[in-house]
Amino acid sequence: MGSEKNTGFEIKDLKISFKVFNGELKVIDGVNIKLNRGERMGLVGEAGCGKTTTLKSVLGILPKQAMLKSGQIMFNGEDVLKFNSAQMQKFRQESCAMVFQDPSSALNPIFKVKDLMINGMRNSLNTKDKSWEKEAYGRAVKALGEVMLPDPKRIMENYPFQLSGGMRQRVCIAMALATDRHLLLADEPTTSLDVTIQEQILHLIHKLSVEKDMSLVLVTHSMGVIREMTDRVSIMYAGTIMEVGDTKDVLENPGHPYTRALIDCIPKLTGDGVAEGIPGRVPDYLNPPKGCRYVERCPKATAVCREEKPQLVECGPNHMVACHNFGR
Ligand SMILES: Nc1ncnc2c1ncn2[C@@H]1O[C@H](COP(=O)(O)OP(=O)(O)OP(=O)(O)O)[C@@H](O)[C@H]1O
Ligand SMILES: [Mg+2]
Repeated sequence: MGSEKNTGFEIKDLKISFKVFNGELKVIDGVNIKLNRGERMGLVGEAGCGKTTTLKSVLGILPKQAMLKSGQIMFNGEDVLKFNSAQMQKFRQESCAMVFQDPSSALNPIFKVKDLMINGMRNSLNTKDKSWEKEAYGRAVKALGEVMLPDPKRIMENYPFQLSGGMRQRVCIAMALATDRHLLLADEPTTSLDVTIQEQILHLIHKLSVEKDMSLVLVTHSMGVIREMTDRVSIMYAGTIMEVGDTKDVLENPGHPYTRALIDCIPKLTGDGVAEGIPGRVPDYLNPPKGCRYVERCPKATAVCREEKPQLVECGPNHMVACHNFGR
């Protein structure tokens, strides 16, 4: 309403397939994610559910086998999927940043940290002003300090291979922070890191997202991290959002059998032994079930689940679930 721009972010009915030699993998099947400015959203689901594919589609960095079937990705009232390459480059350099699962492939090895960071700011600074590089250098050093890298000026002179995995991941985060982005997509940002620094990095991302009023989509396999870090959570299964709501509410009152199964996988402190995974596996994307994609593994499945894909419907305040059996 009014002249104020909507600074929210919304993925609407996204569908993506991958072309393979024997057909089409129908991986992303109607993903909907909505997030207000400054909100932190968790994205959870088993391996192969399409979390990374969803995030990559936002930045237009899907592999060439990917086929966009339908959907919109709205940011500031514009559809990112319709951006031309100049608009997309501007979007990546000014508005949205991504921290990848594997930091070793995220930084171009032939450039020094200094060049990577300064180049990343080219679009958001006035490059007609001769002192822009000085300004960019200053911002880069400051951002490296914010991610608690010791001796930022020395790190600026390093090549990525001279840094540890944890340091590289911090550089990626610093690159995202050197300009004031509105949206950070963090894809399991700590999986490849030493356990001792995992927590530090997560706290850092949380703190900076609060301080900079930056929206965050955080992919993680840990419900504990979701509980600590996020305001809302989306539960994804086989390319579909099965449940979404306020984090505490979803974790305490899960509405979908899949969410319940994921929560039951968390090792209980009082329990004896290690948690087991959910029995069964993610469906074959070449021939996914016609109805609910969770049908083969769901203890509550009925005939309608085989036939019709359930839509997300309200199941409580701010809480939606896609399950035919909810409330039955
Ligand atoms: N380039 C590709 N060609 C064919 N299939 C692909 C390609 N990239 C991804 N896929 C398939 O898409 C599905 C979703 O993959 P994606 O990496 O998005 O899952 P994820 O939820 O991020 O998993 P993880 O938790 O393991 O990171 C997988 O079945 C994967 O095999
Ligand atoms: Mg992934």
